[in-house]
Amino acid sequence: MTQIFAHRGYSASFAENTLRAFIEAEKAGADGLELDVQLTKDREIVVIHDEKVDRTTNGTGFVKNLLYKDLRKLNANKKSSKMEPIPALSEVFEWLSTNKLLCNIELKNGLIPYKGMEEKIIQLIHQYQLVDRIIISSFNHYSIVYSYSLAPEIETAPLFLEGIYMPWVYSQSIGAKGIHPKFSAISDEIIKRTIENGIAVRPYTVNKEVDLQRLFNIKCTALITDDPAKALKIRKQYEKRP
Ligand code: G3P
Ligand code: CA
Repeated sequence: MTQIFAHRGYSASFAENTLRAFIEAEKAGADGLELDVQLTKDREIVVIHDEKVDRTTNGTGFVKNLLYKDLRKLNANKKSSKMEPIPALSEVFEWLSTNKLLCNIELKNGLIPYKGMEEKIIQLIHQYQLVDRIIISSFNHYSIVYSYSLAPEIETAPLFLEGIYMPWVYSQSIGAKGIHPKFSAISDEIIKRTIENGIAVRPYTVNKEVDLQRLFNIKCTALITDDPAKALKIRKQYEKRP
């Protein structure tokens, strides 16, 4: 059965990358979460997509220039007055200890290298005993390889914007057990051959019914969607099929 990962949490209906969006994804029945991480000035791993807080909060400036205590005062639920702080990754892990969700951590270290980010995340994963429930992904494949060299027991998956030739060969060469391609940049044939070669395929960000159906139909490993409730409803139609 194709697993459903909630992209930035249940971001179709709740403020992205907030604890609320994660809790609602779990309530909706998602199998896992996808979230993005950056590093504050005092080196706290925080869950936010952009390098700057401007788009998603009522604040301004780079995450790397803010102290965690100041960043916590910002409201990541910009469209509402109801306060939702930017979560620390440790806070999300604390909550993950109360359920069985999988969690895909996307390292947003392509533009800002955030030296030492990999070590900090791996330490937290071990501290919260989440080794078997975490997938580390990134568009920064050097970081993926570095993470694997530090902790080969934690699954890694490179992210792709474009189709690449024989992605299973590439994944195997860097110790990655999965790939996270843009859904429109990978064909059914390549998805099937990648899975046959022992590599998990979790395309992003799949929101349209027709695209969700396509991936359920070919029994893709997982998919990453903004709307886990919608995806679950559609998946139900495929559950009874052989
Ligand atoms: O992890 C898949 C997807 O989240 C990558 O793109 O920009 O939504 O982080 P983006
Ligand atoms: Ca992401």
